[in-house]
Amino acid sequence: MVEVRSVPCMNAGNEAISYANNSLLQKTVILKARLILEEAIKDILMSKGFPASFNVADLGCSSGPNTLLVLSEILDTFYGMCQQVNQKSPEFQVFLNDLPGNDFNSLFKSLPTFYQNLKKDKGDQFGPCFVSGMPGSFYERLFPSRSLHFIHSSCSLQWLSNVPENLENNKANIYMAKSSPPNVYKAYLEQFQRDFSSFLSLRSEEIISRGRMVHTLSGRSIPDPSSKDCCYLWELLTKSFLELVDEGLVEATKVDSFNIPYYNPCKEEVREIVEKEGSFNLDKLEIVEVNWDPSDDPSNEKNKIGIIGLFPFGDFALHCVSGNPRSRALDF
Ligand SMILES: C[S@@+](CC[C@H](N)C(=O)[O-])C[C@H]1O[C@@H](n2cnc3c(N)ncnc32)[C@H](O)[C@@H]1O
Repeated sequence: MVEVRSVPCMNAGNEAISYANNSLLQKTVILKARLILEEAIKDILMSKGFPASFNVADLGCSSGPNTLLVLSEILDTFYGMCQQVNQKSPEFQVFLNDLPGNDFNSLFKSLPTFYQNLKKDKGDQFGPCFVSGMPGSFYERLFPSRSLHFIHSSCSLQWLSNVPENLENNKANIYMAKSSPPNVYKAYLEQFQRDFSSFLSLRSEEIISRGRMVHTLSGRSIPDPSSKDCCYLWELLTKSFLELVDEGLVEATKVDSFNIPYYNPCKEEVREIVEKEGSFNLDKLEIVEVNWDPSDDPSNEKNKIGIIGLFPFGDFALHCVSGNPRSRALDF
């Protein structure tokens, strides 16, 4: 198990600066991964049939509209399947996980409306659905052994459990950057390898035989870790910090010593870790490009050029991992 020491939580509430109001990009990611999610759930139902109770966990759920959007996608898939094969719907037990500092209060307050809408849209015969919060780090055990059919996360696993060690010489950078010494790249990659391996091993205890996981995380589309593909956003933020230093508002030593616990892996790195760790078969590993500006209309040529001009490598690469556990002695 890995203790999470330094990962900040998303801003709470519904204010202008809240995560709930600033998560359009992540919403786009969820929508892009929709088909993979649907396929994974259908695979479970094909191989196991409809269980009496279907247990789901969304890891790094945060708070705001995206959290319940994922849940709606899962329930929509079930609803469609139940109609298609004329099958009684299972009951749903849904665990929303995030770090203990997450705004679970806002999330819980939105549940009565969610339940009402579910009943209105899908009728009394569907579900019921029982949602609960599961505070804790996904780098630790969260659930009883073999208790979950489906494990999902979106835009969460790029957050490391900790800032990598030995980054003292990454001065005037807050992440890997072109000017970072080679040990910085190595330290970030090794931290991601440790964290992601540990995540897979922990989840393999919690998932049932022939269960499925779908994870989307912010990544890079090419192996070069110094490419603008993953570093550009943080370089912009670094520039802003350095301007504050120039203006005497922030101490230079603070910027020198600050590093973000975040890593954008490339496809090959993800594949290697999954294969080496060995608990899961990898069904699918895809990269999907998402525009940094989610409000940008992709059909608008002018906007497109504007975005390309502003962010030459500004697309955000996304990995979708869908896996099922390897050998399992116990079936659900
Ligand atoms: C960018 S938000 C994504 C939220 C949501 N899944 C979405 O798609 O909008 C990343 C979330 O991961 C959570 N997170 C980061 N590290 C975590 C950890 N070790 N355990 C649980 N949650 C974590 C953060 O607190 C944050 O809420």
